[in-house]
Amino acid sequence: MRKTRAYISSLGMYVPEKRVTNQDLASIVETSDEWIRERTGISERRFVAEGQSNSDLSTIAAQRCLERAGVDPEEIDLIIVPTVTPDMMFPSTACLIQDRLGAKNAWGFDLSGACSGFLYGLACGTQFIETGACKKVLVVGTDVMSSIVDPQDRATCVLFGDGAGAVLLEPAAEAGIGIVDFILRADGSGGPYLKMPAGGSRKPPSIETIQNREHYVHQDGRTVFKYAVKYMADVSADLLKRNDIDPQDIKLFVPHQANMRIIKSTADRLKLRNEQIAVNIDRYANTTAATIPICLFEYQEKGSLSKGDLVVLASFGAGFTWGSILLRWGL
Ligand code: UT7
Repeated sequence: MRKTRAYISSLGMYVPEKRVTNQDLASIVETSDEWIRERTGISERRFVAEGQSNSDLSTIAAQRCLERAGVDPEEIDLIIVPTVTPDMMFPSTACLIQDRLGAKNAWGFDLSGACSGFLYGLACGTQFIETGACKKVLVVGTDVMSSIVDPQDRATCVLFGDGAGAVLLEPAAEAGIGIVDFILRADGSGGPYLKMPAGGSRKPPSIETIQNREHYVHQDGRTVFKYAVKYMADVSADLLKRNDIDPQDIKLFVPHQANMRIIKSTADRLKLRNEQIAVNIDRYANTTAATIPICLFEYQEKGSLSKGDLVVLASFGAGFTWGSILLRWGL
């Protein structure tokens, strides 16, 4: 008997209204619009307004996703929230969203997978659908990176943005449609290259950790760059190979949006054509767990995807964490 597959039955997104251009950042740190565009492909990003938090963004993305599907929040069984910038350590942002949606029958949890969080969450939600334990799972990739990026560090403050993207997973009624396969990886020895050193049990908040600016993102950009390209390309190639799929036959490759040069180099290694690559980093920068669902939403919205299309998602981020997911589009 064919196993039940999970498929993405709806999508939603929300980015805050406040646009921050490269020029805006150049008035705060020593950088330029030209450097940021050339080295990253980013033109602008969105930042939350004062008082606006992760659950404000992610609840709207989730609401929009459910509205488009015509699904009542009470029908949701599970809410998975990949994020590294929750409203607070606990309660989880999943519980905050659950309450604000009125998803009375759902349980939920946050998932810490950094830039690979959405892929981890999607693979996780898929298991609950495939086993029959859940019929409707919301996966909401969401981050407010402006809350943990050092506004005085030009090497990181230009790279990130805020946003949320939600998908609804349901059992696919049609054969062949849905999440086909995935490979997810982790290598904790890469931890020192991308981290937020303080705020957890290792270094609880203190005047010293604040003075040392340890509540911000610290990154060795060159090292992360190198591994991101190799690992995203290798894992995607392995996934395609074991499913007997030629990269040329993919309709859309949706990479994590961290740097346009990483995206291009990864796509070149896979020998993809430009029209196969999903890109929106120019408008939103790196929104960590939100980049892939936001990209998927936008490409679905502009009519680039049809039922049956092969889609490959790929990501790399802090941990290190990385992976790739193969889908046959179902909308
Ligand atoms: O999503 C999570 C994973 N994160 C990533 O994937 C990010 C991976 N890394 C990167 O995207 C790139 O490494 C960066 C965009 C962070 C940096 O680009 P790069 O080409 O690797 O530059 P670099 O770090 O080698 O720095 C080159 C120069 C340095 O100056 P010197 O030492 O050559 O004089 C930096 O100080 O560029 C300087 N620089 C800047 N200059 C102007 C660094 N940031 C800036 C800036 N504006 N914002």
